[in-house]
Amino acid sequence: MKGAGERSLHGLRKTTSALEKINKRVMRSFCVNTTADKTYKAAIIGCGRVAWLLDKDPLIPNKPCTHAGAYQAVDRTEIVAAADIRADRIHDFSKEYNVDNVYLEYREMLKKESPDIVSICAYAPERFNMVVDALHAGVKGIWCEKAFATSLSEAEEMVRLCQDHGAMLIVSHMRRWSSDYKLARELISDGVIGEPVSVVSHFSGNMIHTGTHAFDVLRFFFGDATLVQGSLEAFDSTKNFNLCGWHFAHPRTRQHHVACPLCGALYVGDGAPTLRGQPVPKRGFRNESHRWKNFISRDTGGYALICFDSGVYATVHADSKGYFIFEFDIMGTEGRIRIGNRLFELYLAEASRTESGLIELYRKEMNLEGNNLWTKAVEHLVACMEGKAENISGPSDGMAALEIALAIHESHQKQGRVVGLPLENRTLRVMSR
Ligand SMILES: NC(=O)c1ccc[n+]([C@@H]2O[C@H](COP(=O)([O-])OP(=O)(O)OC[C@H]3O[C@@H](n4cnc5c(N)ncnc54)[C@H](O)[C@@H]3O)[C@@H](O)[C@H]2O)c1
Repeated sequence: MKGAGERSLHGLRKTTSALEKINKRVMRSFCVNTTADKTYKAAIIGCGRVAWLLDKDPLIPNKPCTHAGAYQAVDRTEIVAAADIRADRIHDFSKEYNVDNVYLEYREMLKKESPDIVSICAYAPERFNMVVDALHAGVKGIWCEKAFATSLSEAEEMVRLCQDHGAMLIVSHMRRWSSDYKLARELISDGVIGEPVSVVSHFSGNMIHTGTHAFDVLRFFFGDATLVQGSLEAFDSTKNFNLCGWHFAHPRTRQHHVACPLCGALYVGDGAPTLRGQPVPKRGFRNESHRWKNFISRDTGGYALICFDSGVYATVHADSKGYFIFEFDIMGTEGRIRIGNRLFELYLAEASRTESGLIELYRKEMNLEGNNLWTKAVEHLVACMEGKAENISGPSDGMAALEIALAIHESHQKQGRVVGLPLENRTLRVMSR
């Protein structure tokens, strides 16, 4: 108990003014020099929610919250073109942003417009091709949505190609640009909560789709992961299969994508899949056994244990829920931080106010300023392209977050066995949106 009391004195010395100093330091660190003359030509591939439509949501408070909104808000960038396979999407985008150069085929856009920066806002299965095409078209700055790729072999190639082409790529793990998350990281590294010990993370959604955001945050706080053990939920075919739109022939590649309602695997192939010689129907084969080839694992929720090189361990609870949540509860030897969507709480160990000789946690008031993640991401990309900043969300970071998610899939496939990182299986492919 004495030891705990001594440690808590350290916590008590972290007065309000000391905390404010750390906060100010965090806010200063986001100031980027953007005074140079050049205006960068930005183009967008995939004109959906994250590209621009979310900025239309009246309930979202901190705008812009999209790629287009951020390019528009930052002086150093202007939107010159956009592409989407949906004609209605490019039509509406064109009207909203007064951009005439809109395309149904993104490769044509890259060729004709020669943009400096490209945002890749279509879905994960096409991320690899889109990044490669952008690099070959001479693009020097890429803002790539998550998940970064569908496999580690793809991701490795993307890391290598970015280096070879001398291009900067930021992965859209947006909390890297959040002053709240940066403050939490500073509080942890300054020892304000003592030695970090464990984290409980709750999120809704799937291990790759939402999980890569969470794993990136965990890496941001605690460094590289060393071990993973996990289990995935069964794929809920009734909820996802017919609604998620996976049974389709891709408009450009003509490849068929079909989810298997039995195991969650996904067929991707050039011909329509057959089951015992019959074409696979859209419904009604739930009790059949399948003999398809080309199965690729599918993204679902689940739970996992992740151990970090720093000694911290995290449990991740990502089972399906009827609401959205994204939170971390970080326990240190002298305090605790709870952080998540609309959540920031700092607790420090102090002498109990209700029992002698006891040390308990008490919440500290924090004066948080907040910032806009999206404009900071664009400013950061520009600064990286001009050699004025170190990339804080580069392709290697995108790959590392994906690796944790894929290791959970690998552990699940091995009946929950502990899987060491780096993951040996570089070809495991998981489809996510
Ligand atoms: N970083 C974040 O916080 C964040 C938030 C939302 C979405 N996302 C990610 O962004 C991606 C898009 O999500 P969304 O919610 O905007 O989806 P969306 O369905 O609203 O938009 C995607 C758009 O991409 C287009 N598209 C698909 N294939 C294309 C192709 N080959 N060429 C051109 N356009 C193509 C679609 O027609 C659609 O308009 C997903 O991978 C998602 O995980 C990230």
